[in-house]
Amino acid sequence: MGGFPCTYKKAYLKLDFDRKKGVFRIMLTTRVCDILGIRYPILLGGMAWITGWEMAAAVSKAGGLGTIAAATMEPEELVENITKIRGATSRPFAVNIPLRLPSSKRAVEIAIQEEVPVVVSSAGDPVKYSERFKSKGIKNFQVAFTLEMVKRCADAGVDGIIAMGMEGGGNISPSEISTLVLVREAVEVTDLPIVAAGGIADARGLVAALALGAEGIQMGTRFLATREGTLHDNYKEALLKAKDTDTTVTGRTTGLQFRVLKNRLAQKVLQMEKEGKDREEIDSFTIGSLKKAAFSGDAEWGSLMMGQVVGFIKDIRSVEDLLEEIMLEAEREINRLKQYVR
Ligand SMILES: Cc1cc2nc3c(=O)[nH]c(=O)nc-3n(C[C@H](O)[C@H](O)[C@H](O)COP(=O)(O)O)c2cc1C
Repeated sequence: MGGFPCTYKKAYLKLDFDRKKGVFRIMLTTRVCDILGIRYPILLGGMAWITGWEMAAAVSKAGGLGTIAAATMEPEELVENITKIRGATSRPFAVNIPLRLPSSKRAVEIAIQEEVPVVVSSAGDPVKYSERFKSKGIKNFQVAFTLEMVKRCADAGVDGIIAMGMEGGGNISPSEISTLVLVREAVEVTDLPIVAAGGIADARGLVAALALGAEGIQMGTRFLATREGTLHDNYKEALLKAKDTDTTVTGRTTGLQFRVLKNRLAQKVLQMEKEGKDREEIDSFTIGSLKKAAFSGDAEWGSLMMGQVVGFIKDIRSVEDLLEEIMLEAEREINRLKQYVR
């Protein structure tokens, strides 16, 4: 379907047939949609213990890119998740592999053997695998926390880069660069498509990312507050209650930073850090705590990872409604901004 340029760099509007309503509609689309074969430039951030095939399938079916988080999966479990998502949808999906984990080598082999459509690699150097992914036609997007890392990803030959700022939930950069700064500087050093992550939960976030030069968004926290979110209701309730100031960053003294809800566990970890406890001692105290939050719903002693954007997430909705609203509103937002050009 033909497109025509709009004011946003590398984003354009495309005529699309809305099967549900039986009408044609003009739709915002970018290179990220073309490369990944998706309708909407919206990626589900891989989230360990949480984004298995069910959640990933919900997002892929709704037109975004669903992501299976391999981090905590045994090899057989990962294969099973890939098989199940293929049974649930023919749309593209991704497998997220944090490269610093010892389990990553096996996960990479499985992704290659299964010829998954997309690998989102994170937390490590992409150089080692990009050629092998390419030879199997697997698209590889890599998460980067700093400009230096953006450059390394570009040199390694990835297909796209996810620039994630320190506002985001989960593991964040020790250098704590914000999404606003990182995306803006990333688009200066590469022509590869940039996906903005960290602090984005709605249409205004998407339009802001496009204005910075990104061509898509990856969301984690917003997707946690969805009906399809496979996490305990207590975690979802905590998301709805949390204000923008309710997250904190643990691990600044150990070099492994996480943005989490400031609950009793986080306060205890911060106290241990103040007392100069080392990484081993802290790790042994926190081990399994994300699972504890996601599965058992322990909102005080579990690790409830979430980003600052949680402050304005006020409802639990279906993934489909969420994506439809973001896309519709994004077009309205772009039109709204035109009022400033006189
Ligand atoms: C609970 C949770 C778990 C996460 N686990 C992973 C992970 O396993 N691998 C990864 O690359 N990123 C992980 N992330 C980061 C997300 O994929 C995503 O980039 C981030 O949430 C975006 O920021 P936002 O929370 O502001 O939307 C996690 C984030 C959260 C909130």
